[in-house]
Amino acid sequence: MTTGLWIVLDHIVALLTTATWFTAGVTLALRRTRLALAGLVAAVLVTLVRVVTVAILAGRGWWFVQEKVLLGLPMLAVAGTGAVLVAGPRLLPARHGRGDGTSAGGVVAVLTAAYAALAGLVVTVLVGYPLTAGTALITISLVCAGALLTARVAVPSGRAQPGSGGGEHSPSSLAGSTADAGMAQAPEGRHGISRRRFIGWTGGAAMVTAAGAGVGLSFLPTGSVTTGGGAGRSSRAGVSVADLRGPGEPAPGGTVRRHVLTATKATVRLPSRREIDAWTYNGKVPGPAITATQGDLIEVRLRNADIEGGVTLHWHGYDVPCGEDGVPGVTQMAVRPGEEFVHRFRADQVGTYWYHTHHASHIGVRKGLYGTLVVHPRDGQRAQTAAERVDLTLPVHTFDGTVVIGGSDGRTERAASPGTPVRLRLINTDSYPHRIVLAGTAFRVAAVDGRDLNQPGEVSDVGLRLSAGGRYDLVFAMPDTPVALVVDDDREGALRLLPHGGANRDARVGDTSALPELDLLRYGVPAAAPFDTRKADRHFTMVLDRGVAMVDGRPAYAHTVNGRGHPSIPDQLVAHGDIVRFTVVNRSLETHPWHLHGHSVLILSRDGTPSTGSPLWMDTFDVRPGETWEVAFRATNPGIWMNHCHNLPHAHQGMMLRLRYDGVTTPFGGSPGAASGHGH
Ligand code: C2O
Ligand code: CU
Repeated sequence: MTTGLWIVLDHIVALLTTATWFTAGVTLALRRTRLALAGLVAAVLVTLVRVVTVAILAGRGWWFVQEKVLLGLPMLAVAGTGAVLVAGPRLLPARHGRGDGTSAGGVVAVLTAAYAALAGLVVTVLVGYPLTAGTALITISLVCAGALLTARVAVPSGRAQPGSGGGEHSPSSLAGSTADAGMAQAPEGRHGISRRRFIGWTGGAAMVTAAGAGVGLSFLPTGSVTTGGGAGRSSRAGVSVADLRGPGEPAPGGTVRRHVLTATKATVRLPSRREIDAWTYNGKVPGPAITATQGDLIEVRLRNADIEGGVTLHWHGYDVPCGEDGVPGVTQMAVRPGEEFVHRFRADQVGTYWYHTHHASHIGVRKGLYGTLVVHPRDGQRAQTAAERVDLTLPVHTFDGTVVIGGSDGRTERAASPGTPVRLRLINTDSYPHRIVLAGTAFRVAAVDGRDLNQPGEVSDVGLRLSAGGRYDLVFAMPDTPVALVVDDDREGALRLLPHGGANRDARVGDTSALPELDLLRYGVPAAAPFDTRKADRHFTMVLDRGVAMVDGRPAYAHTVNGRGHPSIPDQLVAHGDIVRFTVVNRSLETHPWHLHGHSVLILSRDGTPSTGSPLWMDTFDVRPGETWEVAFRATNPGIWMNHCHNLPHAHQGMMLRLRYDGVTTPFGGSPGAASGHGH
């Protein structure tokens, strides 16, 4: 069973635990003795099961259980043991008709256990990792307050029927606050009452103080940077991101590739005649395909015609100088209607990339502000055969449920004579993964996220999971039978390559949904890494979850990193040349495609199992529920870089932070808070 499934199971058991404790408490209060006894036994058993699920999760990583082991379970253990000790001795004889088994103290104790179970669950769901002293104080205070209030309500009603069971029995000291209510009938003398009242008041005061302290602790400002174990900020004079710009010239022998991209709203008619109200670059979706040969200079003038909120151009996966990165509020200001911004950078990296707006991208990209960037190697032989090759760039995008591949929302057909080398460049421009199957041929995954794999082997009958933002280059020689590209197991096949005109064009694609998924961590042949992967100058852990955190200045049920949401997540500080390691842990129930700007990262391991295939460099990697990924890179591209989930609504809802090089500053309102509402 995967850790993700154990997390789900543990949530279910936690819910059951809470439900059984409440059942026991309520049936006990209603004097349903047999039910109450059964409920109590069930509650104890389910609690023990919970201990097992937590223990198993603990084996998968401390991140998954910290708040459960340190707070939830101990609280429940104490309260549950108390409940059994107080309620048990009366319930057991009641089974044989001796008394009704109920006592006010028992009801209070069992319900307190229920509150403890509920509180543990709430902490897991709303707060998660890391557990703070503030959270612990608030939680414990709330459980105690619940116990006190219950005692106030429960004890007088117990006294009203002095003949029954333990009604007259003096409840635990928790019942102290019932002193006023029970005064008139209280069998104890004046002295006893004032003592209980005293306990009630002091107990209440202690709780309020503890809760107040907890709230105070939660509002303590945290540092604005984390150093990952490396040196802190130096006082070195800074360089501004505004000065980290691309060169003005191509490399010798290269040319300048000039484009003007105008962001504008447009109604786009898809080949199926369906019309979509899109936000576009130059009136089309995808925007103009930008291609270059290695060493060329890419110069793109972005203009905004009528996208009111503003737009930018971010070069996804392309390690441009930081000032070209297109992040509003960090590397530039958003380009408002009537304004423009000129990007210039050298096409040094070969491969398949894409561009998209980075301003309110959860809306803008979805509506169509994206396009492709492909850089070909400067290699005479490849250029010469280009004409005889099939080289298709296929961004996959979903408009209101309609999957559009390239610019087409239906099936596309192409002729390709047998033997032709084919390269399909798949780009996932959506916020969730797509499943890709190539039916009818063996193929190789030549490149992932633009970077070539080392000796990728031939595979067939496999599914490929393409993360949000990710790219795969699939290569094969055209066979003499049709080939179908299948996206998300849609049997129609999005693209058909036909070897001899139209022959067999309607051959049905079989059911591809059962094909096993290719594991890229075991694909291809290992090779030496360009740095020592065993050492790290800085190591940052990012625990991804959902919880209550500030987003855009308001508390929200956010997507969090280490319990916080953008812009309150501390920046990660690195220095030029550092080897940086990330541990990315997903303790939520959703997939998070993790994306660092300006660098690609080398995948070291997943769930503790090292990568054994080709070196795998990615700029966006899917961290599924329960997974833990270790990745590393060398910090050689100075700047302030966004580091975020590429499920863009998640990023908008807090799952985003910045990696900052020591000494780099931004004049574009880059302080946390100022960037809120931007930069995603
Ligand atoms: Cu493709 Cu920060 O984005
Ligand atoms: Cu996410």
